[in-house]
Amino acid sequence: MSVSATQKQAVQTQPAWDRRRRKRTWWRWPLVGSCLLSISYYAQQRLSAAADPRHVLTAGVTEQALNQLGQAPTVMAHAAKLFTQFCAACHGTQAEGLVGPNLTDAYWLHGDASLMALYSVIGQGVESKGMPAWNRQLKPIEIAELAAFLGTLRDTNLAGPKGHEGRLVVRPAF
Ligand code: HEC
Repeated sequence: MSVSATQKQAVQTQPAWDRRRRKRTWWRWPLVGSCLLSISYYAQQRLSAAADPRHVLTAGVTEQALNQLGQAPTVMAHAAKLFTQFCAACHGTQAEGLVGPNLTDAYWLHGDASLMALYSVIGQGVESKGMPAWNRQLKPIEIAELAAFLGTLRDTNLAGPKGHEGRLVVRPAF
């Protein structure tokens, strides 16, 4: 008797209840598959969250975190788009000033030109003077991106139509 014949016989001699049990548990495999899929999906999400430079803000919005954000080119490219969309109408396409003040010079009406001061004035606005409170329209993360973006423009001194407004703020060189 050949080996395969022996195996056939073994299968045939399997009790009927055992074969039925095998049939009844076929659904385990899709279940195991979907568990594995969801585990790998979760792991991927965690990894991409860590790769997103904006994760520096998860511990809170601080001067240092905003500064780090300003060094992430992808985030700054996105912030530049936000600036064009929401801010350029009043501050000029290069932030050189228009209706609103020049944001590239060293003169500031509000705060000490720190990134946290920018974050706060963008969010709260100066509504009596025509600067909208952006926390009504934009997400905190977008306001943080804009503050970091303006941080990269500080002291680049583009000539604007308005001249200097506010106090000269001398920031320590980094
Ligand atoms: C409707 C016009 C308008 C728009 C749109 C606008 N601003 Fe302003 N912004 C102003 C005006 C006017 C001021 C000056 C307020 C004052 O005189 O106190 C100002 C002030 C500021 C200041 C403070 C400047 C300083 O010298 O202290 C910052 C920072 C600023 N805006 C950022 C932004 C950002 C970022 C956006 C887009 C999200 C934006 N603004 C959109 C009108 C605008």
